[in-house]
Amino acid sequence: MASITLEKITKAWGAIKGVDAIDLEIRDKEFMVFLGPSGCGKTTTMRMIAGLEDPTEGNIIIDGETVNEVDARDRDVAMVFQSYVELGELLDRKPKALSGGQRQRAALARAVVRHPQVFLMDEPLSNLDAKLRLSMRGQLKHIQRKLQTTTVYVTHDQIEAMTLADRIAIMDKGKIQQLGTPDEVYNNPATIVVAGFIGSTPMNLIKGDIENGTFVAPGTHVAKAGKGSRKNVVLGIRPEDVSVVAKSKGNFTAPLFTLEPTGDQTLAAARNDAQMVVARAARDFRQEIGSDISFAFAPDRIYLFDGASGARI
Ligand SMILES: Nc1ncnc2c1ncn2[C@@H]1O[C@H](COP(=O)(O)OP(=O)(O)OP(=O)(O)O)[C@@H](O)[C@H]1O
Ligand SMILES: [Mg+2]
Repeated sequence: MASITLEKITKAWGAIKGVDAIDLEIRDKEFMVFLGPSGCGKTTTMRMIAGLEDPTEGNIIIDGETVNEVDARDRDVAMVFQSYVELGELLDRKPKALSGGQRQRAALARAVVRHPQVFLMDEPLSNLDAKLRLSMRGQLKHIQRKLQTTTVYVTHDQIEAMTLADRIAIMDKGKIQQLGTPDEVYNNPATIVVAGFIGSTPMNLIKGDIENGTFVAPGTHVAKAGKGSRKNVVLGIRPEDVSVVAKSKGNFTAPLFTLEPTGDQTLAAARNDAQMVVARAARDFRQEIGSDISFAFAPDRIYLFDGASGARI
């Protein structure tokens, strides 16, 4: 049994707040992923759980016990560090002869064989090449499910977060923006930050207004998008929910800016002076760059956000 509870934990250095009053309940056996842009406080939060950093305020509770005053070595957690150089310094046997990626794998293996109550992993796959990363990702998930060890995993790679996590805590500026399962954060993003962060081709975010229920922006017209009238609204639609259509049926029309065939699909980006919108088109879709293209938005896949606060409407 090792649940982890963070109660209003804050880490400040003078005026800088690296972590700002985070409340979080990590369940026993859970695979929790901290996801967010560089500097959002992922490593700092993890280091406080490990006992390598003291919180300025708040409590850390592991397995029912408040561990604020408990030494790192007595917390029964195994941490894999973000930087393998740092790791090299901390291990008795320095694996000098290994490459960065090999050291990361050795560090992972060491963490696993210790059989701790909690795994803390800070971007443990960051030094691996793309192919190895993919294979390690699968193995890591398999091992964690098999050992059922509570795991906190830090990454800024949203695909890694989606594929590994039971739940994801999406962080920004020292706070948790949203906590949910991969499906929840993908299908129900609470804020513009979450919407823009989750999804391998990011969600299109279009700034405009709602006029009598119709969303209006340069080159954009989406009837029945909302209710009433409202200024400063951001409409979100994922590229996979945008299709290429005849102009009369389009919600967005602009000159084709670029085509990106990736083999299994072709991404088509159209751009006007105000914004760019990307559609996932068929793999064999081709059209001349610069010619007008029209996109339709799947009506039930449209998200609306308040342009000022970023919150979902
Ligand atoms: N010792 C310190 N003194 C002052 N500020 C710090 C210190 N350590 C971290 N910070 C600041 O706290 C914030 C959070 O840092 P942290 O290392 O937790 O970010 P991160 O989310 O892990 O980022 P990355 O993805 O780049 O590793 C950053 O703005 C960082 O500059
Ligand atoms: Mg970090």
